[in-house]
Amino acid sequence: MISPETISAIFETARIEEVIGDFVNIKKRGVNYIGLCPFHNEKTPSFTVSPSKRIYKCFGCGKGGNSVSFIMEHERYSYPEALKYLAKKYNIEIEEEEQTPEQLQALDEQEGLYFVSTFAQKYFTENLFKKDEGKAIGLTYFKERDFTESTIKKFQLGYGIDKWDDFTQHALSSGYKIDYLIKTGLTISKENKHYDRFRGRVLFPIHNLSGKVIGFGGRILSSEKSKAKYVNSPESDIYNKSKVLYGIYFSRNAIINKNNCFLVEGYTDVISLYQAGIENVVASSGTSLTTDQIKLIKRYTSNITILYDGDEAGVKASFRGIDMILEEGMNVRIVLFPEGEDPDSYARNNHASEVQEFISKKAEDFISFKTNLLIKETKNDPIKKSALIKEIVKTIALIPDGIYRSVYVKECSSIMNVPEQTLMNELNRILRRKFRDKNKITRTEETPEYEEYKEGYKAEKQIDMDLYEGEFQERDIIRLLLMYGDKEIIFEEINEDNQKIDVPVNVANFIVKDIKSDEIYFQNATYQLIFNEYESAIEKGFIPDEQYFINHADEKISQLTIELISSPYELSPNWLRKRILVKTEKDRLKLLVVSSVLSFKAKKVDKMIIDNQKEIQKASNDEDRIILQQKHISLKNVSRDINRKLSRIIIK
Ligand code: CTP
Ligand code: MN
Repeated sequence: MISPETISAIFETARIEEVIGDFVNIKKRGVNYIGLCPFHNEKTPSFTVSPSKRIYKCFGCGKGGNSVSFIMEHERYSYPEALKYLAKKYNIEIEEEEQTPEQLQALDEQEGLYFVSTFAQKYFTENLFKKDEGKAIGLTYFKERDFTESTIKKFQLGYGIDKWDDFTQHALSSGYKIDYLIKTGLTISKENKHYDRFRGRVLFPIHNLSGKVIGFGGRILSSEKSKAKYVNSPESDIYNKSKVLYGIYFSRNAIINKNNCFLVEGYTDVISLYQAGIENVVASSGTSLTTDQIKLIKRYTSNITILYDGDEAGVKASFRGIDMILEEGMNVRIVLFPEGEDPDSYARNNHASEVQEFISKKAEDFISFKTNLLIKETKNDPIKKSALIKEIVKTIALIPDGIYRSVYVKECSSIMNVPEQTLMNELNRILRRKFRDKNKITRTEETPEYEEYKEGYKAEKQIDMDLYEGEFQERDIIRLLLMYGDKEIIFEEINEDNQKIDVPVNVANFIVKDIKSDEIYFQNATYQLIFNEYESAIEKGFIPDEQYFINHADEKISQLTIELISSPYELSPNWLRKRILVKTEKDRLKLLVVSSVLSFKAKKVDKMIIDNQKEIQKASNDEDRIILQQKHISLKNVSRDINRKLSRIIIK
């Protein structure tokens, strides 16, 4: 653990223009530097570095952050790795915090598991190249599959000797603890006997992102049906199957450069494609594709091309994959290989250029893929055709972005020859249902289904609007805190001697006190977190500045801060700028703060009134109803008060 003191020293010393200047050609333009964004392709520079705010922000792709997050993003480092990198650059000595014995133990144990796995990999590779059995069986097998020696070495393939405990004995006599051998699954312990998991199999080591071996897949060589084709390492403290992709360590640079990731089914598919020069390839070997694996790819590209067998299992798996990928907001294309072929066999039987061409020619988007596959079944059967359309629209509904959704609706409409509006109606129906499920607007038994449907629709629109409008006011408050928190505004008060006096208050104090006294909360959790930080800082007697939040350990907070302080959008609402002339900057700020807080409150009270009205409708007895109606009246009064104050400000 790096101590907080060291972390703040790193943040204070690192100069963002220098840190980024090591990787990107940036030029001074006014107070900022600009250059071509390293995170997306562009011809005119929209990547901006601000030395005074110590942040970068790309107005093309939206990426932004501080020195540490730049290094994390650009070099794919973890948080501590990025800190260490910067410490080294600026000659800052890293003070590590003392660790508890439990932490040390856990670390030791992880280290131990890594050591054992690397040791095993080396031993298995040695078997393959040096031992008679390994050469005769394992190496021959790989050669038959056309793997070259350099491929075998690159992927660190190996062979497990076909004896009960050849590896276990070797590891024990080399001083490795039996505990770690069992925890990595390399050794199986049964009735006090120890034996090897991988016997008489060729081995594919699985690497994590930093290239460390964390597990193995072992393929049988015979075609014996009684034995499993693959035996895989079990999960362990270092091997979490759902979060790892086979090949990712070797392929991630190519994935970034090609801005596309090929997803295949097996170890051998990855290796064969890689050997054919198609390096941006990974497999979800050993599990069916998971959301975590998709998110892992998303760190490097938002485009995935699925390359699966054309058999039924492959098609089914690709359908599942498509939906999951779209749900993550990524783009997906699909290539099915001819029956009986997979990427591995195709890459072996054809030239690299032919494979490339085949993939780029055959890649289809999911709509034409699904349609072409299913249209044969539907022929001219209208019932089947409408089922197919529904199926496709269901998939479109998974896409988070509305613009993409409508593009796909257009495409579907032209391929299937159905009016766009019909598809839109179906799409909206699905979206509405999803929305209702999410917001748990439950059905009561008395209400007929149609009524409920209408209600759900109205509620959706209402909540949508509430969310949208409320969001604006909440955002405004947080922006004011971030940008002007420590600035003073002056209020006039009457003192005991009936004299007008000026009372200075800083913006953060005013906002926090005012909002707290009304016990109002933010709907957006991150805004609330920032607000809470102000509250506790003020109690301690200081006001955090921009940098405090930009460098915040909570990624959500730092991203949001950068978003808020660097977006080109103007703070004050239009009416404020147009209708009022304010003499001084201070007056303008005061007006801005007071009106923003009032608008924020007005919005909240409106929402409370709506909620209360719903309660009134639901009330089951007169007593409750009366109480709620009284609440309604007092809320209305509060709302009137606030609006009166607001209009007074506007007119003045
Ligand atoms: N797999 C597994 N256990 C099995 C079968 C398959 O874990 N019993 C996983 C492996 O990760 C394998 C992938 O599913 O790589 C794809 O299976 P398959 O196509 O049968 O294996 P390949 O690795 O392509 O092997 P080969 O081409 O040698 O048949
Ligand atoms: Mn195969």
